[in-house]
Amino acid sequence: MKTLLSGIQPSGTLHIGNYLGAIKQWVELQKSYQVFISIVDLHAITVPQDPQELRKNTLELAALLVACGVDPKKSVLFIQSHVPAHTKLAWVLNTITPVGELERMTQYKEKRERAGTLAGLLNYPVLQAADILLYQPDVVPVGEDQLQHLEFTRTLARKFNSRFGKVFKEPKALIQKEAARIMGLDDPTKKMSKSAPSPNNFIALLDSPEEIRRKIKIAVTDSGRDIRYDEKSKPAISNLMAIYSAFSGMTVSQIEKKYHGKGYADFKRDLGELLVEKLTPIQKKYRELSRDDKKLLAILRSGAKKATGVANKTLSVVKRKVGFVL
Ligand code: AMP
Ligand code: TRP
Repeated sequence: MKTLLSGIQPSGTLHIGNYLGAIKQWVELQKSYQVFISIVDLHAITVPQDPQELRKNTLELAALLVACGVDPKKSVLFIQSHVPAHTKLAWVLNTITPVGELERMTQYKEKRERAGTLAGLLNYPVLQAADILLYQPDVVPVGEDQLQHLEFTRTLARKFNSRFGKVFKEPKALIQKEAARIMGLDDPTKKMSKSAPSPNNFIALLDSPEEIRRKIKIAVTDSGRDIRYDEKSKPAISNLMAIYSAFSGMTVSQIEKKYHGKGYADFKRDLGELLVEKLTPIQKKYRELSRDDKKLLAILRSGAKKATGVANKTLSVVKRKVGFVL
């Protein structure tokens, strides 16, 4: 079985964009890949975090991932800081990383405007490379914004291998399909984002049924009144149709047929109900898990144990190659 690894930051509020663009894929790929999912708290602290919030967000994210269908029996779900091999390998990789390469990273340049020129932020991609290379994955599913970090990881793997002998596999990017890019409900020209100025931009996975209905009701629409998929001239309704399609399994043309002769209000009402219907079971499972911290922690401890087993194997080869006394 091939191996897939991904990481996700515990930064609060998962929305349907995260679900359709990332989590749903992981859940589907559990059938054909050995999946590792790391909740990357060490990455989260590269920008200032409130400690209590971080702890809460980390556990909330873990519970939500399981509620969305990440199956702890099949996949290895763990908290990054529970597996010390990540920071250990990151240190070794730091010693072969030119600072200039890190300074060129787009995400670093963006984030330092807000967080300051901190060493942890600069070294973020090195830790991400360690996350990945420890598990020798075949593929890493990423959004476009992470391609640069993945390319950096591949370069680093090649560099290490050519200097010390072959240890690391060069993983391939599994690029999330453009169709999985969900746009903001209040502005269909930008992608749905939890950091949008208004919470009406997104449907959070934990939004109440009333909130879901309300947000869909006030979502912007385009001129005209027909339900037709056309990203250029009808970006807002096309985005809502993409969401409808992803949650219902219907194709866009089936949706067009179903709503032929009907208006935006009918379509929106149904979309609201569809989302309530699909998110309610996730929320129910989430609540069960969050009531029982012990069960959730047991899942995460067991994930960390399995991850540690795999990661330490790679790490001990690395240690031998660089000349540490074992
Ligand atoms: P973020 O929290 O923005 O870093 O996103 C976490 C994951 O969700 C990444 O894999 C993103 O590619 C995915 N994601 C975030 N926003 C969207 C969106 N609006 N549409 C599709 N995927 C998204
Ligand atoms: N940097 C990624 C993001 O912001 C999160 C991440 C950390 C990651 N380590 C990873 C993603 C390893 C994939 C593989 O989305």
